[in-house]
Amino acid sequence: MLAERLRRLGQDHIADILEDESRRHEAMRIESDLGGVDLDLVERIMRGEGLAEVPPSEVRPAAVVPASFSSSPSAAQCVLAGRRLLEQGKVAALLVAGGQASRLGVESPKGCVEVTPLTGKTLFRVFAEQILALGRRFGRPVPWFIMTSPVNHAQTVEYFTANDFLGLDPRMVFFFPQGVLPSLTGEGKFILAPEGGLYLNPDGHGGVFRALLTSGMFDAMRDLGIEEIFTFQVDNPLVKVCDPLFVGLHSMQGACMSSKVVRKAGFDEKVGVMVEYGGRTRLLEYSDMDDAIRYATDENGEMLHWAGSIAIHLMRLDFAREVASRSHALPFHRAVKKIPALAPDGTTVTVEGIKFETFIFDALAHARTSVTLEVTRSEEFAPVKNLTGTDSLETSRVLQSKRHVSWLRAIGVDVRDGVTVEISPLFALDREELASRRAEIGDVITRDTYLG
Ligand code: UTP
Repeated sequence: MLAERLRRLGQDHIADILEDESRRHEAMRIESDLGGVDLDLVERIMRGEGLAEVPPSEVRPAAVVPASFSSSPSAAQCVLAGRRLLEQGKVAALLVAGGQASRLGVESPKGCVEVTPLTGKTLFRVFAEQILALGRRFGRPVPWFIMTSPVNHAQTVEYFTANDFLGLDPRMVFFFPQGVLPSLTGEGKFILAPEGGLYLNPDGHGGVFRALLTSGMFDAMRDLGIEEIFTFQVDNPLVKVCDPLFVGLHSMQGACMSSKVVRKAGFDEKVGVMVEYGGRTRLLEYSDMDDAIRYATDENGEMLHWAGSIAIHLMRLDFAREVASRSHALPFHRAVKKIPALAPDGTTVTVEGIKFETFIFDALAHARTSVTLEVTRSEEFAPVKNLTGTDSLETSRVLQSKRHVSWLRAIGVDVRDGVTVEISPLFALDREELASRRAEIGDVITRDTYLG
């Protein structure tokens, strides 16, 4: 039956293996892979349905709450509201960590990469320390939901188990794997993986909605009394997990889904931008942007679409659940990738494959109310995407230290030039907390220093 279905999908090369008695072992592997694949969805994608549409060429920049807002009296109200939600245990942290991290090219899950400049803490540990510190500050643990993929799930759980859950209560850390889809060749054929079975790719960070639903995590959130979900990506050690200002602003505005942005470093920086069309705030991915949008300027010749996404969002739990329960709520985006494949003669070759993914931010299209908050890049964004060059481990380490040096200088510590500083979130979550511990820090820092 499965073989017949595959033939109808034009996958005779796979059906042949399933029907070949002498290839039972290979067939079992393929059958097991297909057990986790929604073939109805694959068929839909192959018919070209549900794919992301080209955005209109006339899009307006989204309304943005400027970074200067953070020092206004209204911001203080938001911070209070955000703190109250955290004290009531109504905010969960949600990390999407199911990606393949192919640009970084590491074997382990990306969260296991040692990222901090002096002590080499992993990304997972940096987030865990923040979550621990938030729990201490607000008197309620922040539950942490971590989306993995079938490829890195076991390794991720193993890492947490081997490291004593990084100091967190294991009952407050929830792992759930996302779905997968077969990548296709240009001719629409499934690809055989060199290690056996089919080449499957995680279905994109937008897969988080279905994965939360099917894994029962929405129920777990509801049982914990969660109302707001703070979502972030695995590659940014400067993320301010569950930032009270952001939480409060989003909740006081009654927003369904909100986003943080920074001013783009230049027209060509590879980040998506916040725009408005069809009556909704949307995020336009860098790769989906045409030059007219990318290089658009305002009447002063300044970059029109400057609001670059740093992939940090807040979603109301009921909103996320509604998106998850709608069939085909998010469109699929195509990405062409070099994929290692098993050739008919048994050798490994590289083929140009197409992977299909949904994006978490496409849920904005369903959000009746949405807030976009600008934050300061040097405070909140130092992503690790590449092995070398821009957005690499090296640039991220420099930026992490720079932030901490600036915090120290702001409270009157004389940090000499060229010194690297690392501050554990357990020592100080933010500049204000650092100020409260001023007496524990000397007046001058002349060599590399870790405060933990
Ligand atoms: P990226 O867009 O950087 O993709 O993911 P990636 O797969 O990790 O890396 P490359 O492109 O292969 O180098 C941004 C965030 O979204 C998560 C990633 O783990 C990262 O936190 N993600 C991405 C998922 O959780 N699932 C996916 O299917 C894709």
